[in-house]
Amino acid sequence: MRSLNIRNCRLIELPKIGDDKRGFLSIGESRKDIPFEIKRIYYIYKIGDLSVVRGQHAHKKLEQAFFCIHGKVTFLVDDGERREEIELKEPNKGLYIGPKLWHNMIGFSKDTVILAVASDYYNEGDYIRDYDKFVDYMHKGEK
Ligand code: TYD
Repeated sequence: MRSLNIRNCRLIELPKIGDDKRGFLSIGESRKDIPFEIKRIYYIYKIGDLSVVRGQHAHKKLEQAFFCIHGKVTFLVDDGERREEIELKEPNKGLYIGPKLWHNMIGFSKDTVILAVASDYYNEGDYIRDYDKFVDYMHKGEK
């Protein structure tokens, strides 16, 4: 598994049990494979316009892990200094995205289903939805 060049971000590989006949089972346990306590899950599916860009925000405190459990997606992750492009296309391989990382999702396929697990409940106040404000936040901290 390759290591990523930006802080607060790494690949996760979940165990995969099974075979071609019976199918496969992957498991992610809170505070073990998933490096935080899971308080919320959500999923993204039935993407009609494959050229759409989702995400386009950073979080101040939230930690998340993303798994593309069907199809594919590319994450563009930016820590204010460096950028990484990570394609997810295997159900047991995921991406941990910690706080203060701008992330875009692109490169969907018709059948893409993305499962996200998050360390806290939804809170719009934790979002930074403007890239310039994100860069500012990274340099100066919250005003
Ligand atoms: P948004 O963050 O814009 O989606 P994405 O980053 O994948 O493009 O979320 C879409 C809408 O859903 C937005 O109005 C906020 C709402 N939402 C919730 O109400 N609860 C949640 O847990 C999430 C993730 C989003």
